[in-house]
Amino acid sequence: MSESVTVAESPAQDTHLPDTTPDGRPLGGTLMEMKNITLRFGGVVAIKDISFDIREGEIRAIIGPNGAGKSSMLNVINGFYHPQEGEIWFRGERRRAMKPHQIAHLGIARTFQNIALFKGMSTLDNIMTGRFTHMKASLLSQVIWHGKAAREEEENREKVERIIDFLEIQAIRKTPVGRLPYGLQKRVELGRALVAEPSLLLLDEPMAGMNVEEKEDMSRFILDVNEEFGTTIALIEHDMGVVMDISDRVVVLDYGRKIGDGNPDEVRSNQAVIDAYLGVPNDDD
Ligand SMILES: Nc1ncnc2c1ncn2[C@@H]1O[C@H](COP(=O)(O)OP(=O)(O)OP(=O)(O)O)[C@@H](O)[C@H]1O
Ligand SMILES: [Mg+2]
Repeated sequence: MSESVTVAESPAQDTHLPDTTPDGRPLGGTLMEMKNITLRFGGVVAIKDISFDIREGEIRAIIGPNGAGKSSMLNVINGFYHPQEGEIWFRGERRRAMKPHQIAHLGIARTFQNIALFKGMSTLDNIMTGRFTHMKASLLSQVIWHGKAAREEEENREKVERIIDFLEIQAIRKTPVGRLPYGLQKRVELGRALVAEPSLLLLDEPMAGMNVEEKEDMSRFILDVNEEFGTTIALIEHDMGVVMDISDRVVVLDYGRKIGDGNPDEVRSNQAVIDAYLGVPNDDD
């Protein structure tokens, strides 16, 4: 990269993108950019004029107290909610308003704050549902079952088996997920998102309600996904120890506003962030 100083032509252009993560891994270009996003529900303003970016290959945490607007932001990214104001840029192009399934086809997958699995179905079948974006064979070829449909089925099964191995859940492949302990259900949900082979994975509180050991396991899987598959990850998490440990950069929301953005050390020493977590009222209230 050249030494010359570039002057931003618009506020959206970041003039000082770091080239490496805090632990020295190279950071890619901008994968996604949220520009001046505002989201209202009637009189409730869930997100107020928030801008931030997600760099290729990073683990980007979104943190903040309850009701800060974190889940709403993931719902904007994956198309569940449509912001009244602002622009979303993905891979250098402005994204038009899209439905969640169209966004899934762009390579964006997610897990939910409240586990969203089919409780009566096995681990294997739940994870298989994550392959829907890759099912292209026509209904006719699926019905008469030859050629393309058979090849596709084989490919889907192979991918699912690889993810089951990767997440070390072979022993529960046939178990209905409703019978699994919470921590394993969260892992199955991660598996369902991973078989879609996303380039951007959104995780809404992947460790909520877990004990220390389950959190350590989940942290390791998230890091492995990022390193082995090169998947960019945006993650909401309340456990600050985990967030500071595994994230490259952290954006902090409070009452729908962005109050901090930077690497873990910068965010940790940001006074507005410290106040928000200690419950000090902000000046706008
Ligand atoms: N579908 C909705 N309809 C109305 N209000 C909503 C809706 N979704 C979110 N909100 C409101 O938007 C605000 C932000 O909620 P959001 O769920 O994004 O917060 P959060 O940061 O994820 O909180 P938590 O840590 O508790 O999960 C809250 O005031 C919430 O009540
Ligand atoms: Mg939430």
